[in-house]
Amino acid sequence: MPSLDRPDPVIIGHVLAEHRELFQLISQAKQAFTDTGRPLGKRRQYAHERLTELRRHLRDHFAQEEQGGFLEEAVTRVPRLGRRMESILRQHPPLLAELDSLTAALANFRLDPADWHEIGQQFETFISHLQAHERSENAVVQEGYNEDLGLADD
Ligand SMILES: [Fe+2]
Ligand SMILES: [Fe+2]
Repeated sequence: MPSLDRPDPVIIGHVLAEHRELFQLISQAKQAFTDTGRPLGKRRQYAHERLTELRRHLRDHFAQEEQGGFLEEAVTRVPRLGRRMESILRQHPPLLAELDSLTAALANFRLDPADWHEIGQQFETFISHLQAHERSENAVVQEGYNEDLGLADD
């Protein structure tokens, strides 16, 4: 039986591994926009594949968080975090919608370099929204378990 006043290292480890995996997928997608060595058509195709995979992963990740588990556990431990947690979870649908509109833009992309640049900028904006989201989750978990878990601020 794990002690109730100690964070479960398996759960915390799982959360962090999930967040790291998400950012690996993001880095791969980013490469599609920064790699200028390949023709635009190929980069578009690669970016579309990466964003589709990221979307799938993110949907599962969000669903898992919404079903409870570590976030719920953090709120159970520290009830005042409840409101903050609710507003964090409400960010899930708009984040997925932001990614959907990027994937749609890539699907309709007519190989105009200016449009490509624009989509790349929008992807950067999406990344900053997602990173802020995950950071606030990490913070709630950290506060909920009331100890410094050494969560990476990336
Ligand atoms: Fe989340
Ligand atoms: Fe998350």
